[in-house]
Amino acid sequence: MKEKILKCLRETEDYVSGQELCRMLDVSRTAIWKVMNQLKDEGYVIDAVKNKGYKLIQTPDIVTAEEVDSLLETEWAGHPVVYEEEQESTNQTAKMLAEQGAFHGTLVVAERQVSGRGRRGRPWHSPKGSGIWMSILLRPQIHPMSASMLTLVAAMAVYDAISSRVEGCAIKWPNDIVINGRKVCGILTEMSSELDNIHYVVIGIGINVNTDDFPEDIAAVAASMHVITGEYYKRAEIIADVWKSFEKYYDQFLQTENLSLMVESYNQRLVNMGRKVYIEERGSQYEGTACGIDSEGALLVEKTDGTRTAVISGEVSV
Ligand code: BTN
Repeated sequence: MKEKILKCLRETEDYVSGQELCRMLDVSRTAIWKVMNQLKDEGYVIDAVKNKGYKLIQTPDIVTAEEVDSLLETEWAGHPVVYEEEQESTNQTAKMLAEQGAFHGTLVVAERQVSGRGRRGRPWHSPKGSGIWMSILLRPQIHPMSASMLTLVAAMAVYDAISSRVEGCAIKWPNDIVINGRKVCGILTEMSSELDNIHYVVIGIGINVNTDDFPEDIAAVAASMHVITGEYYKRAEIIADVWKSFEKYYDQFLQTENLSLMVESYNQRLVNMGRKVYIEERGSQYEGTACGIDSEGALLVEKTDGTRTAVISGEVSV
């Protein structure tokens, strides 16, 4: 009920009468009044005027299920939203929910992760109140070999949400979002499958939004949207934008089960394009020039001897 009230207050510029809310939600005035008080306790500023009703004046920067849900404009991505303030890792929670039969599209959001994880087992700094730590559960009917492309699909969506607020962002292959060369977002995709059948895929996204200090070991390479622009952002609005874009790119991906419909756009966003890159792949290291991705999401690299190779997975530094 709380998210329905929030949605209604958001959609109406003017006051919404208590009577109207009671009728719409089929609840008593006392029930509405209780929810209004809960919302005020959570930091929402709501003007209540006798004979006029309620008007939403200000929203807090929180990522509760109700706040995110009331902003989502998606058909399936983010339904339902599962919020728990403190979690070990939202990927871990999403995998647990997947094992229990949770639906395709379930979104797990945390305010803080105690042991957030990055790629290659690295820790992911996930302090309270400043970033977006979330994971979506997908049950795609695709070949397991195609699943790694979903990470690039997610990077496209996050890029849309960040670049509409901050200038100068780019995708660093395969799925980091960087601004002025510093990492603002990382994506960790995990899968449970048989050789020819996917049980589920979990895509975990970490975005440094309002973070203003980083641990010493990552301070030189990490940044937040706030550090770059000096502005503060409402995280739930960014979350809603990510999943709106994600649905669009996911549909494109499913049409061909590859990235052919977004390769051009991805390559325009690619920070590595035409630049020298150092590849570390299965123990070997080499240097070359990045020529963009192919429709399978591999990075095409022209080596110094003029030969071209497609890098499927590896570490790229610019
Ligand atoms: C990377 O190494 O770049 C990937 C970082 C992924 C971090 C996110 S935060 C939400 C989700 N939960 C995790 O433990 N990791 C991912």
